[in-house]
Amino acid sequence: MTRKIEFVDLKAQYADIKIAVDARIQRVLDHGQFIMGPEVRELETRLEAYTGSKHCITVASGTEALLVALMALDLKPGDEVITTPFTFVATAEVIVLLGATPVFVDVQPDTCNIDAALIEAAITPKTKAIMPVCLYGQVADMDEINAIAARHGNIAVIEDAAQSFGATYKGRKSCNLSTIGCTSFFPSKPLGCYGDGGAIFTNDDALALAMREIRVHGQERRYYHTRIGLGGRMDTLQCAVVLAKLDKLDWEIEQRIAAGERYRQLLDGVPSVQQLAVRSDRDCVWGQFTVQVANREVVLEKLKDAGVPTAVHYPIPLHHQPAYRDRYRVSGSLNHSESVAKRVFSLPMHPYLDTETQRRIVQPLAN
Ligand SMILES: Cc1ncc(COP(=O)(O)O)c(C=O)c1O
Repeated sequence: MTRKIEFVDLKAQYADIKIAVDARIQRVLDHGQFIMGPEVRELETRLEAYTGSKHCITVASGTEALLVALMALDLKPGDEVITTPFTFVATAEVIVLLGATPVFVDVQPDTCNIDAALIEAAITPKTKAIMPVCLYGQVADMDEINAIAARHGNIAVIEDAAQSFGATYKGRKSCNLSTIGCTSFFPSKPLGCYGDGGAIFTNDDALALAMREIRVHGQERRYYHTRIGLGGRMDTLQCAVVLAKLDKLDWEIEQRIAAGERYRQLLDGVPSVQQLAVRSDRDCVWGQFTVQVANREVVLEKLKDAGVPTAVHYPIPLHHQPAYRDRYRVSGSLNHSESVAKRVFSLPMHPYLDTETQRRIVQPLAN
């Protein structure tokens, strides 16, 4: 019998790193400091070194990372944050949660990342931040975006790097490319834990202090609250899991990039499939391996019949989501966001994917 194809193979990963994970978890069970135990700071120090950021603050999820970042910037009702509607809902959710308004600008149709050339026209006196999303694991045009932000009175730039941890951009690491970088350790992400987790990165001391305090109910010291905060800590156990995975991260990122390259070669001769453009000054860690087709429903059915799991990231752009009606502003046309939302779908992607399985995955697309 042929082996079942997994969309993300966390079991294969666990089999590979079981000894390290089990030992790390056992250590936490033994010392019993489940909240803010020593693994929390240990992980933050390791991630600071990995990204080159001065500060890393772990938090309860990627969503919480974005929320805490915006709270530290003192985002208020009436403020605007420029982002794209073609992303996971959390990107805009945190803006609306704080009473501010997401301003949607369109994406580039070939990378599905925000089109930096459209950002300037969206800026108003209310613009408090720009939030590019590094979709599918490829960093957005951060230098162009930072330059626009600097020209307009140092607007903050928050990189939503939930899908791009480990990716590089002009030799620099994702998460350390702007005012604040936010990532997610959701299990299927390039660096995942065994539950929810996330991290925030910055080189700004004042913002780092604010985010550390906001993470723990805005307290400056125990039971003394100088800011409005939340319960946003990452569990010690989840930090221990990420620490166990860190030793293999470089290898896993290499495997992801290699698997992406193999897909690209296999799909080269399939004209009905439009591949994501990857810019030459950056790599893509394939948080999702996503392509575009004209007849998505038919293609997904074919893959399903062949036992290939797929997903659609994301079928409905945020300006069409019922909860967001009347809560956003649009700058320019969103034609590309509309179009890619109808065309994209993702194939299985993880570091344990072998060439033979990828051939099986791609085969139904060629027929
Ligand atoms: C682009 C983007 N932003 C934010 C998030 C939120 O991360 P989390 O699920 O850890 O809250 C995700 C996760 O799916 C994401 O893909």
